[in-house]
Amino acid sequence: MFSGKVKKTALALLVSGFVTGTAYAAPEFLADFHAENGCDSCHASAKGSVSDDNLSHENAQCVSCHGDLKELAAAAPKDKVSPHQSHLIGEIACTSCHKGHEKSVTYCDSCHSFSFDMPYGGKWERKFTPVNADKDIQDKAIAAGAKETTDVVIIGSGGAGLAAAVSARDAGAKVILLEKEPIPGGNTKLAAGGMNAAETKSQAKLGIEDKKQIMIDDTMKGGRELNDPELVKVLANNSSDSIDWLTSLGADMTDVGRMGGASVNRSHRPTGGAGVGAHVAQVLWDSAVKRGTDIRLNSRVVRILEDANGKVTGVLVKGEYTGYYVIKADAVVIAAGGFAKNNDRVAKYDPKLKGFKATNHPGATGDGLDVAQLAGAATRDLEYIQAHPTYSPDGGVMITEAVRGNGAIVVNREGKRFMNEITTRDKASAAILQQTGESAYLLFDDSVRKSLKAIEGYMHLQIVKQGNTVEELAKQLNVPAAELATTVTTYNGFVKAAKDSQFERPNLPRELVTPPYYALEIAPAVHHTMGGVVIDTQAEVKSEKTGKPISGLYAAGEVTGGVHGANRLGGNAISDIVTFGRIAGASAAKYAKDN
Ligand code: FAD
Ligand code: FUM
Repeated sequence: MFSGKVKKTALALLVSGFVTGTAYAAPEFLADFHAENGCDSCHASAKGSVSDDNLSHENAQCVSCHGDLKELAAAAPKDKVSPHQSHLIGEIACTSCHKGHEKSVTYCDSCHSFSFDMPYGGKWERKFTPVNADKDIQDKAIAAGAKETTDVVIIGSGGAGLAAAVSARDAGAKVILLEKEPIPGGNTKLAAGGMNAAETKSQAKLGIEDKKQIMIDDTMKGGRELNDPELVKVLANNSSDSIDWLTSLGADMTDVGRMGGASVNRSHRPTGGAGVGAHVAQVLWDSAVKRGTDIRLNSRVVRILEDANGKVTGVLVKGEYTGYYVIKADAVVIAAGGFAKNNDRVAKYDPKLKGFKATNHPGATGDGLDVAQLAGAATRDLEYIQAHPTYSPDGGVMITEAVRGNGAIVVNREGKRFMNEITTRDKASAAILQQTGESAYLLFDDSVRKSLKAIEGYMHLQIVKQGNTVEELAKQLNVPAAELATTVTTYNGFVKAAKDSQFERPNLPRELVTPPYYALEIAPAVHHTMGGVVIDTQAEVKSEKTGKPISGLYAAGEVTGGVHGANRLGGNAISDIVTFGRIAGASAAKYAKDN
């Protein structure tokens, strides 16, 4: 470790001229720049071997010289978005972006387009490598036998995987959780609008009357009745219990709002309408860590291993730095998420979505599905892929449905409303794509802004236009001012009358009368893959060949199919991953104990 003085200098270098890349142009990689300090300055051994796939030792060395993320963010100029100001969960490792022996990358640019001036940096790009790409090397690693043994292996560190880890640990199982990305949390950490649950304490406090049966009916209707009704019952009937479980782990799920396709307000999120995903993922991460889960990043599961009877025996992992190795396990939980970020795969199932942007994190490529299918898992509904109607092409981020739920309207380039803003996503996306320019504007006032903390994130990204009057805003958008003013006045009339006689919007929470007025351009982007592995109510994975459960194999979350049918309702995924993640973890732990 390094002295305080060295650390101060290194921190100053990072946040000052050095970051411009002008001071030291000659070395190609970060390791070259550090070369004179010797290999030991980064690695535990002078031979340069890495500590583990988390690069625990190497990252601790970076921090000892340069400070941690919080220190770096605090030292950065206040008038700019700091590359170290992270909204992601867990301890973000320096090496997620700063690479020693190859070009560094700005991980944030997998979603945003900040173009930070990264020292020794290259452009963000990611090629999808099939899980069975190095079959010969993989076969050799399998033949070499298991390097270690555990009760339960979990694939994926999103909400489903972390919930499974917590419940499996609570059931007494030894758990290894493997995550292929350098940053944990998957899509879960990005979730914004809320988690659906019926008959909760928070709803009761707010006087919201809801029934589990209404949540079942809404979910089936939204899914065009193609859902597995048994899974939907599990989802709704356990939803308020899952909120209580999260609360017992330290989560704040007390704000309740409306999302598309819901008959009543049942989308739960932290106080003030802050984003739900980062909060839930952080709480689950902390709980899994506190319970001693062995979590490994940069660790991609490429095969599930089975014996001659088709019973699961473990997994083959590709450690980004340590290479292939086998973990022997009694049970495996696949919680590897969906594939919305893999446009080739999306377009294969739904050619209309070819070339569409996606709202997802970069790891949502469908590996889990491949691994499951190679192990003989049955799949369903893969052709049902959802576009989220309000993605900001300027910011590269999804704008939560909760903005509409809290009162925003959607207008076209002619300044007119054209739909019930809180209809289901399939209908809203289709309506937007029919407008001039295949996009529209999301419009709200200051009272909507004040009702939802998540909006501050969009303000921070500087993607929202504003005006002191509707007419002023119209000018900024290049939309006919008189038409837009009439649209807003007419809408406010509907709110007063508590009836939208134009589009039958069911919730009319507030008039748009409080300046400033805000708007941003929105267009549909690929968001959720409804199909996936077939599971039963105990999260057991069914075999393609026999239709019966594969012994020792479980799955939960976006990697599964059946819960959401042909179209998922906003807020139902977080409910799904918490409830089925818990079930999968408990089932896997029980199986490991009994076998
Ligand atoms: P993920 O959270 O995606 O986690 C899967 C993890 O598995 C990833 O980290 C991935 O890298 C890893 N992985 C994949 N393959 C492998 C492998 N082979 N080996 C090891 N690791 C692997 N839903 C709601 O209900 N409410 C919301 O408000 C909401 N907002 C959203 C906002 C955004 C921007 C997005 C993208 C989604 C939102 N959703 C929301 C949907 C919801 O977040 C996801 O469906 C859900 O979080 C998926 O959880 P998961 O655990 O199944 O998968
Ligand atoms: O719009 C959103 O907040 C997204 C919600 C969801 O995908 O369920």
